[in-house]
Amino acid sequence: MEIKKLTIELLHEVMQLENQVFESEAWSERNMTAELSTQHSHYFGLFDQELIGYAGLRLSPQDYAADIQTIAIGKEHRGKGLGRTLMNRLIEVARANGSEKIFLEVKQSNSAAIELYKSLGFEQIDIRKNYYRPSGENALVMLKEITQPLILGIESSCDETGVGIVRGNRLLANALHSSMDEHAKYGGVVPEVAARAHLEAIEPTLNQALAQAGVELDEIDAIAVANGPGLAGALMVGIGAAKGLAVGSDKPIYAVNHLVAHVGADVLERGAVELPTIALLVSGGHTSLLLVRDLLDDVELLGETIDDAAGEAFDKVARVLGLPYPGGPEIDKAAESGDPAAIRFPRGLMLPKDMERNKYNFSFSGLKTAVARWVEKCEEANESYSTADVAASFREAVIDVLLTKALWACEEFGVPRLLLGGGVVANARLRQEAVRRCSEAGIELRIPRFSLCTDNGAMIAALGAQLVMSGRAPSSLGFGAESTLPVTVVQTP
Ligand code: KG4
Ligand code: ZN
Repeated sequence: MEIKKLTIELLHEVMQLENQVFESEAWSERNMTAELSTQHSHYFGLFDQELIGYAGLRLSPQDYAADIQTIAIGKEHRGKGLGRTLMNRLIEVARANGSEKIFLEVKQSNSAAIELYKSLGFEQIDIRKNYYRPSGENALVMLKEITQPLILGIESSCDETGVGIVRGNRLLANALHSSMDEHAKYGGVVPEVAARAHLEAIEPTLNQALAQAGVELDEIDAIAVANGPGLAGALMVGIGAAKGLAVGSDKPIYAVNHLVAHVGADVLERGAVELPTIALLVSGGHTSLLLVRDLLDDVELLGETIDDAAGEAFDKVARVLGLPYPGGPEIDKAAESGDPAAIRFPRGLMLPKDMERNKYNFSFSGLKTAVARWVEKCEEANESYSTADVAASFREAVIDVLLTKALWACEEFGVPRLLLGGGVVANARLRQEAVRRCSEAGIELRIPRFSLCTDNGAMIAALGAQLVMSGRAPSSLGFGAESTLPVTVVQTP
């Protein structure tokens, strides 16, 4: 006997069983088609050579709830505990997706089913008179509540010390301390300065998160920590703190991938990451294009920068233009009154010859050099130039490459969704162009709120919670900082 996800290809078999089981009250083929293909619905079939039972539920991620839509067992297969098997699978799916409540309706006369549901933790909360057609029978409404795990997440991969607390997919706290100001005089993040700043910030940030969430450390079910990719010395501070907490309070620990956590942050916004999705992560530390088929099991790196990260390019060009660090917001401001078409700066790795090996990779160092040359030339010739035009033209070149490649990926892999993350998402022009180009291409664009786009502890906690809710085993304490952790390793065992 085998349980498999049901797809529309099996409609014929499903309808046969539906008619056999529900007779005059069976769903129409049209309703069943809609059910099987609707967003957030999960249907499973039980096979013994042929289909002998099925059940489905629909998630309402925004309400942290799930509704069991139907369950059917072929007449000659009843009384063998198959209903329980299917129900358990649905409960598992609801739990893994962050549901806090599961609702179902059942015929008042179906005492066998009611007993089964009670034994699985459902309780009657309501009665709907005359609910079923054409029989006119009453329906009992039953509810099972799930207590989702309380997870504390620690982030220290670059210059933000973040501690977040979530319960399941619900955001409870997102405390942050940034050492950005301390790096300003160097024009970029200095690893030693960042590590020292984490050390000073970690305890107050932790206390702040606990206070924000209104919970005690004792109540936390598990600790999650980013162990890469990032600056080794910086990561080590967060890891040390997380291990200390885990050992000191005897809690399980989950070592998670910082990049995957950026994608997972969306669950705190929308309740469940709609998959598959293309994700474009752009910050001072990374420029990565991902194809996410399954957040915990199937994340593919399509490409990344081969030199500077996009945010880094903003920071370096700002320096060329005499603007302070961090350069992103400064260039954004300067570009406001500039003409993006004033200077045609080069677009890295966009030529036909790049398509074979670098279609989804990025390169911004040539662009940075081109801007520096252009400014130099003007200065040598004693010509004045418009900082606004340079800033706007540079910004346009970066955004053009980022979005063109992201949309290529959506098209090539047939994925109608794009998620943006990372500090560069603060860029007004990037957001505006992303909205325009995605709507033109019929692609659903998702940008989590800004505090969840930049590095933060909540996204680490959220990914940890996903692992716990899916029943994954914790990491063993032997893990270390992995500055080049590949995105395929969602959790270090
Ligand atoms: O994700 P993030 O806060 O931190 C890490 O890099 O880890 O990203 C910071 C980067 C910086 O390079 C900064 O210049 C860039 O994001 N950034 C921007 C803007 N605001 C911040 N880049 C372009 N436009 C912006 N408005
Ligand atoms: Zn990041």
